[in-house]
Amino acid sequence: MPTRFTEQSQRFRPNSNEEQVLQKAREHFEATLIGVQGELAGSVAAMEHRRADDALNYGEIFLRDNVPVMIYLMLEGRFAIVKQFLSVSLQLQSTNVQTRGVFPTSFVEEEGELVADYGQRSIGRITSVDASLWWPILCWIYVKRSGDIDFGRSPEVQRGLQLLLDLVLHPSFEGTPVLFVPDCAFMIDRPMDVWGAPLEVEVLLFAALRSCVGLMELCQRHENSVLLGERLRLSRQWTHDLRQFLLKHYWVTSKTMQVLRRRPTEQYGENQHHNEFNVQPQVIPDWLQDWLENRGGYMIGNMRTGRPDFRFYSLGNSLASLFGLLTAPQQRALFRLVLHNRDHLMAQMPMRICHPPMEGVEWENKTGSDPKNWPWSYHNGGHWPSLLWFFGASILLHERLNPQADVLLMGQMKTLLDECYWSHLNQLPRQQWAEYFDGPTGTWVGQQSRTYQTWTIVGFLLMHHFLHINPDDVLMLNLDESMGH
Ligand code: GLC
Repeated sequence: MPTRFTEQSQRFRPNSNEEQVLQKAREHFEATLIGVQGELAGSVAAMEHRRADDALNYGEIFLRDNVPVMIYLMLEGRFAIVKQFLSVSLQLQSTNVQTRGVFPTSFVEEEGELVADYGQRSIGRITSVDASLWWPILCWIYVKRSGDIDFGRSPEVQRGLQLLLDLVLHPSFEGTPVLFVPDCAFMIDRPMDVWGAPLEVEVLLFAALRSCVGLMELCQRHENSVLLGERLRLSRQWTHDLRQFLLKHYWVTSKTMQVLRRRPTEQYGENQHHNEFNVQPQVIPDWLQDWLENRGGYMIGNMRTGRPDFRFYSLGNSLASLFGLLTAPQQRALFRLVLHNRDHLMAQMPMRICHPPMEGVEWENKTGSDPKNWPWSYHNGGHWPSLLWFFGASILLHERLNPQADVLLMGQMKTLLDECYWSHLNQLPRQQWAEYFDGPTGTWVGQQSRTYQTWTIVGFLLMHHFLHINPDDVLMLNLDESMGH
């Protein structure tokens, strides 16, 4: 366990070089943009690739890494690039019989040819689910922000949505509203025992369905199609059921844990709703007691028969708050939890990707002895500066939507955010905008970290924008806000 930092060793003091750092960050960011079919279409994942091994794919446009890029470009009013990014990704939506509807993890133009990776070129041949789910979310945010309704209603976009929905809205063996995925299906793309229904994927599914509904409604206003009406009905129902399912099985607080610990086990029958997944009290980890304290709450990482994954995942939780899957009081319980566990989750380099890391035999078994995911490193408890803005945006959006609520807590959260921002500003330029950081305090640059990682750079610019330029702009991330605002 990390010891508490002394006041002097903390790295969040304001810095007079702010303007210079921002200016440099903007220049680095501009250099990451590359074209496809003659027009700028997105950012490479990292700039370092130029000096490194050719087979590395950091020189490609990754869909997930381009989420903050596209949000930033929209803030700057550079909609043409966003549209090109969405259009090229849509052109690349798989038509293969076994993967029809899937969007690629990454793509790039090589000698005039578009090359895309759906998993067939990546380490471990993993699949990308989050990229497919992010597409409609980004498309919906783009249509709302730019007012480009024609794009949203175009047959290409509407067809793309239907193909994607085909992958979700279908019967399954277990009959729950979650999407089942193999290990490594999202940002955590190396074995980490995150197969089944990992939080991040399920939260993205919720937001993707919500966005598909918004986009389909644009069409329904003009044509009264029975088929579209039916898809809308099913999508709305699915979104509702998924949210209920996640709130019931993933949300934990000190109170819910005390109920869980005393539930009956080994129950048969359709009418037992106390312990559907037959979770034994022994699986509840010790660290949870202090982690939750009295008024904290969060969504656990995964639910599988008898084996919930109690690890805390920063991105899934931030998105659950940002996209309004959590109720407003739950969002505040999450903020309290992060504040309470600040020494773990923020430490010297906000923000840790997941907590706690797996160690020893568990690490051997669950990661396949993956040296990159060594305890406290990379996906296994490493620190990723690119994650901070998601959490920051969820706080700022909460504040905008609930201005009267718990002013004291929200004041503390804003201070925390500001300190995290300074901590980035003081360290990232020196550390060459590294991809990730290692160790229990996140002080050391990641052992295999890339440098000039785009989402590190643009995440910092976004945090600056939302904190210091225009906090009202976080409203663009509110999926429930309708067109025309
Ligand atoms: C690594 C990360 C993944 C990211 C990619 C490109 O594979 O695990 O999340 O998208 O690098 O930066």
